[in-house]
Amino acid sequence: MMVPSDMTGKVALVTGAAAGLGQATAIRLAEVGADVALVDIAEARLEETAQAIRAMGRKALVLPLDLASRDNCRAAVERTVAEFGRLDALCNIAGVMLPGRTTEITDAEWDLTMAVNLEAPFFTIRAAIPHLLEARGAVVNVTSCAAFKGQAYFAAYCATKSGLTNMTKALAMEYSHAPIRFNAVAPGGMMTALTQGMSRLADCDMSLIMRIGSARPELCAIEDVAECVAFLATDAARGYHGACINIDAGVTAG
Ligand SMILES: NC(=O)c1ccc[n+]([C@@H]2O[C@H](COP(=O)([O-])OP(=O)(O)OC[C@H]3O[C@@H](n4cnc5c(N)ncnc54)[C@H](O)[C@@H]3O)[C@@H](O)[C@H]2O)c1
Repeated sequence: MMVPSDMTGKVALVTGAAAGLGQATAIRLAEVGADVALVDIAEARLEETAQAIRAMGRKALVLPLDLASRDNCRAAVERTVAEFGRLDALCNIAGVMLPGRTTEITDAEWDLTMAVNLEAPFFTIRAAIPHLLEARGAVVNVTSCAAFKGQAYFAAYCATKSGLTNMTKALAMEYSHAPIRFNAVAPGGMMTALTQGMSRLADCDMSLIMRIGSARPELCAIEDVAECVAFLATDAARGYHGACINIDAGVTAG
């Protein structure tokens, strides 16, 4: 079973921690003992996550930051280490999904998708590497089943998730002999605020996308995916390096 190991005395940094999978992962890591730095652009909801963690007797550091800024990616790591003195796990979960016809997606929407989904993990990881090496820690990147299947109207999103998946593997190779692990989790459709972005497709040809969107959502429970992310972030996953675990009810199977 993929059960996260004890994180007592250890520190995790979780992005996207205000909602959905990021919130569930932050809470799960706190349940197994971690103090957690919480990063998200949505400050009010971030406080709710922090309160849940503090109610367990763990420490929570609220970092309301826009990860589309590279400076903020670096600041998230620096402020975490300044507060807690160490960093054992980095979970890159924040993401945006702005689907639409390729001829109608704006430059700003393309840029935001690249910045949050692909560039932010890179710049956060780069800042975190020295601390994770010191702590013999781990990185978990959340990608998507859209990394493996071409999905109509999702060109930007698919590009970022494929990029993040293979970036994870490249980092795993670069650090094959070092005390740090890099892994990814690729979920299928989970019922979160992110999937409400699908409403942007109201006048699109849904028959083109239902092929990938027709997974059984009850098999992609947020808690199940969070359990896997938390597992990979802990020493229990010591044998995992460069892996991408698909939790998508078979969407990418064929
Ligand atoms: N929901 C799904 O069906 C699904 C499927 C596959 C992969 N994913 C991935 O899972 C991850 C979590 O998504 P979710 O479903 O929990 O969605 P969500 O919308 O509930 O959570 C995403 C979080 O990212 C935060 N965020 C967005 N832009 C940000 C920015 N610029 N700076 C800081 N934080 C920012 C949001 O405020 C939000 O709290 C994403 O990377 C997403 O691509 C989701």
